Amino acid sequence: MAVTRTFSIIKPDATRRNLTGAVTKKLEDAGLRVVASKRIQMTREQAEGFYAVHKERPFFGELVDFMVSGPVVVQVLEGEDAVKRNRDVMGATNPADAEEGTIRKEFAESIEANSVHGSDSEENAATEIAFFFDDSEIVG
Ligand code: PPS
Repeated sequence: MAVTRTFSIIKPDATRRNLTGAVTKKLEDAGLRVVASKRIQMTREQAEGFYAVHKERPFFGELVDFMVSGPVVVQVLEGEDAVKRNRDVMGATNPADAEEGTIRKEFAESIEANSVHGSDSEENAATEIAFFFDDSEIVG
């Protein structure tokens, strides 16, 4: 299996509860390596741009409000089949549907405050990584 990269966000509900380390440990225990990481306050412009694909959805405004409501930690993760590996350890979008042992089952508060974002394809991972990181910030 090829070593690939994916993009992750530890969302404001998790940073607010001081869960950055706990979430990162789950990622590492799942076989993912953090090869870039920074804590940022996302601007409204960044959040709207990042989630532009969802702009017609009814929850778009709430999603943007939530993502700028506090600091987030953006990360690049590396590992075998990283996109799927990360999606598996994240669990379902709605924590009510998430499997035991997943990040969202353990930590998420709601479908909105669901602790983590992860890219859903390698193509989107490349776009999302480039949205927040220069190549020089990623150290594999
Ligand atoms: S997914 O995983 O992309 O298939 O999930 P999807 O249902 O398409 O949701 C896309 C992102 O929108 C968030 N979301 C919501 N935010 C606020 N309110 C409601 N009701 C809601 N439903 C979905 C969801 O957490 C996804 O965020 P990301 O950051 O992409 O995981």
